[in-house]
Amino acid sequence: MLDYDREADRYDATRGGDARAASAAAAVRALLPADTARLADLACGTGIVTVRLREPGRQVIGIDLSSGMARIAGTRLPGRIAIGDVTRLPLADASVDAVVMVWLLHLMNESASAVALTEAARVLRPGGTLLTTVDKNDAVFAAGGDVTALIEPVRAAHAAPGTDATGRVTDLAGRLGLTVTAHGAFPGTGQGRSPRWWRERLSGGAFAWAEAAGDDLTALCERLRELPDQDRPRPDPVYRLIRLTARSGGGR
Ligand SMILES: C[S@@+](CC[C@H](N)C(=O)[O-])C[C@H]1O[C@@H](n2cnc3c(N)ncnc32)[C@H](O)[C@@H]1O
Repeated sequence: MLDYDREADRYDATRGGDARAASAAAAVRALLPADTARLADLACGTGIVTVRLREPGRQVIGIDLSSGMARIAGTRLPGRIAIGDVTRLPLADASVDAVVMVWLLHLMNESASAVALTEAARVLRPGGTLLTTVDKNDAVFAAGGDVTALIEPVRAAHAAPGTDATGRVTDLAGRLGLTVTAHGAFPGTGQGRSPRWWRERLSGGAFAWAEAAGDDLTALCERLRELPDQDRPRPDPVYRLIRLTARSGGGR
């Protein structure tokens, strides 16, 4: 996983900044029940989305593993941010109405992501709400246009399925007593990248599947180099969210 302590100072500027955060927060808010009074944003990062989830009568907290990210989040939500691991949440059972996880599960391996979902289910009250992004990397490569049309077949041949795949998350959550009750989406404003950006990342080791692609990667980078407008960003991806609702009352 990326070193988020080192990434912290440039995170907002390189992930679409306020525009992306506003879109993500709007999509989350649209799926949150109106009576959400206690909300935990897990893997809150710099808090750029978290801060937009506040409203009168709602207590919002953020938790992140990276002290660098949490430090910035703390400037946005003083006293409301904790350093913590989503696989061992520092929260009591059934203590929140809603858990939010934006761009987290795809970063985790199979066992850690399953534990994160188990922890989310543990801290939710009966009838509570879990909102999570799903299929994050699929969205990146389904954005349309010449760049992703070249990359996607190579990725599909070499990449493992995402740990945030909708089917997987839905199955795991189902075993924890959570049912899908709604879907949402938000544009990844500023996340569409240029051919040159992709060539540099793909050949620079930023993607494990690209490392495994061997000659296919070499050929892909050559084809990317032949595209016009090497520095023009291509279409932004559209990211997807699901809402999962915990059983009301009774055990899991
Ligand atoms: C892509 S960022 C997303 C941040 C934020 N949700 C947003 O949308 O801007 C992923 C975040 O997950 C955090 N993270 C990764 N693994 C974690 C874990 N096990 N527990 C808590 N946070 C974690 C990272 O430190 C990073 O801040």
